[in-house]
Amino acid sequence: MNKKTAGIQDVSIQEAHIRKIKTLAKEKNAVILAHNYQVPEVQDVADVVGDSLELSRKAAETDADIIVFCGVHFMAETAKILSPAKKVLLPDMGAGCSLADTIDADLLRGWKKEHPGAIVVSYVNTTAEVKAESDYCCTSANAVAIVHAIPREKEILFLPDMFLGYYVRQKTGRMNMHLWPGECHVHAGLRKEYIMKRIGEYPDAEVLIHPECGCTSQALVMVSECVPHVRFLGTGGMLAYVQKSSAQKFIIGTETGLIYRLKKENPEKEFIPLDAGAVCGYMKKITLEKVLRSLEEEKYEITVTERVANKAKKAIDLMISIH
Ligand code: 13P
Ligand code: SF4
Repeated sequence: MNKKTAGIQDVSIQEAHIRKIKTLAKEKNAVILAHNYQVPEVQDVADVVGDSLELSRKAAETDADIIVFCGVHFMAETAKILSPAKKVLLPDMGAGCSLADTIDADLLRGWKKEHPGAIVVSYVNTTAEVKAESDYCCTSANAVAIVHAIPREKEILFLPDMFLGYYVRQKTGRMNMHLWPGECHVHAGLRKEYIMKRIGEYPDAEVLIHPECGCTSQALVMVSECVPHVRFLGTGGMLAYVQKSSAQKFIIGTETGLIYRLKKENPEKEFIPLDAGAVCGYMKKITLEKVLRSLEEEKYEITVTERVANKAKKAIDLMISIH
């Protein structure tokens, strides 16, 4: 088979998968939620594509019987906690998160013992058991607002992302905020040198950086010095910002999956990845074929014990309600 014939065959297999997914989702009253980092064809087949906060909100309000979560494990767990009566499916159980893996409930309990009375703010990229030990959850979209909602005199334990934590501390001026030394292997690799290189290549582009990035802390200093056009935004914030900006070019400092949606929604604008190698292998584990299998065989079902879910829900509800 030559390359061209193989390509045509791939497209027709994809089209057949898409048709079957749509039919099965309708028959089973299933909703397909996809994170902004998913591969293009999974984004296209989804009913809703969004950031972690938008997808949590959607999971809480859907009247579907089944939620197929095209994202990573902690996101599907959050959906299950918010919609306990629904069947929540993750198409590949290997879709984990290096950041969520940096802390577990035992480590958090130990940290809390060292700071009695401190308020625990956990980024949504944590397991349900860690959330159950937390007072508040947050996402990159509302972390600053959540910390602002906590009385200033209260000590805060912020986890697990140290770069997001550093950013929030700078934004809120909360020096009584302790940071867990966790990082995401994709975003931690995005460093200051990348920004300098890209700015040199595209001097007229706006620079949008996810606050999980390793360059965030250095970029915050650079903002006041030499690069005033850097903005720190989660994936949903980047999409909203690009829509309203009159700029034509944007340097995107996050996982490259977001660029597909940015281009689709803004075909006249140009998007340059801060690093084209910033790819989350966990997010990319979800394929069309696995989404189809997930719907056909109703796997892999996500479960959370009632005890953990009830405790974690309090922190997640606060995350959903605070903007
Ligand atoms: P958002 O909250 O911006 O969607 O990011 C989620 C995530 O996993 C970042 O790596
Ligand atoms: Fe986790 Fe990083 Fe992947 Fe986001 S990009 S899901 S934080 S490993």
